[in-house]
Amino acid sequence: MTDQTDHSRRNFLYVAAGGLGAVAGGATAVPFLGSMLPAADTLAAATTEFDVSTVAEGQLVVVQWQGKPVFVTHRTPELLAQLDGHDDELKDPNSEAIEAVQAEWMDTPEKRKNRSIKPEYLIVVASCTHLGCIPLYKPSKGRAEWGDSVPSNWVGGWHCPCHGSYYDLAARVIKGSPAPHNLHVMPYKFINDTTVVIG
Ligand code: FES
Repeated sequence: MTDQTDHSRRNFLYVAAGGLGAVAGGATAVPFLGSMLPAADTLAAATTEFDVSTVAEGQLVVVQWQGKPVFVTHRTPELLAQLDGHDDELKDPNSEAIEAVQAEWMDTPEKRKNRSIKPEYLIVVASCTHLGCIPLYKPSKGRAEWGDSVPSNWVGGWHCPCHGSYYDLAARVIKGSPAPHNLHVMPYKFINDTTVVIG
């Protein structure tokens, strides 16, 4: 948990996202531990509405959906380019495992690679598919920013320090990780250009 705070403070904004209609434009940043203790009404909410335009380029926000943390990441063209060239290092580069797909719209090779409806916004459940820890966001390539916590050929993405799983910037799990699957994509849809309804 300390590692999460130290390495990721500038890239993370934790947002207490309520139920349908309660979030867009009015999200409140809260400490991480607070975000893990959702109110009963949040737990009961079947859907979460969120304005993705509030996520700055390259940054990540955590919202809550049915009491679970969800990553909403705003990928720049540069970050999207980091998805190419390492398919052979991934367990499931084309999102073929049913545990990782969970989305009818993931019906083209491009969407199976990006794992998103709008390429710039990746929206996934923020729980490592090994034992459920929340992975750390480490978007830049290489070790300059992250030291030896990442492999020397780091492509950018997420690192789960609990048992050493790695995911790329489409949350596709990297071979050698104990996590079996890509981070899960939950049902979601856009109801206008910038408002997403999760669930
Ligand atoms: S919970 Fe992520 S590697 Fe074990």
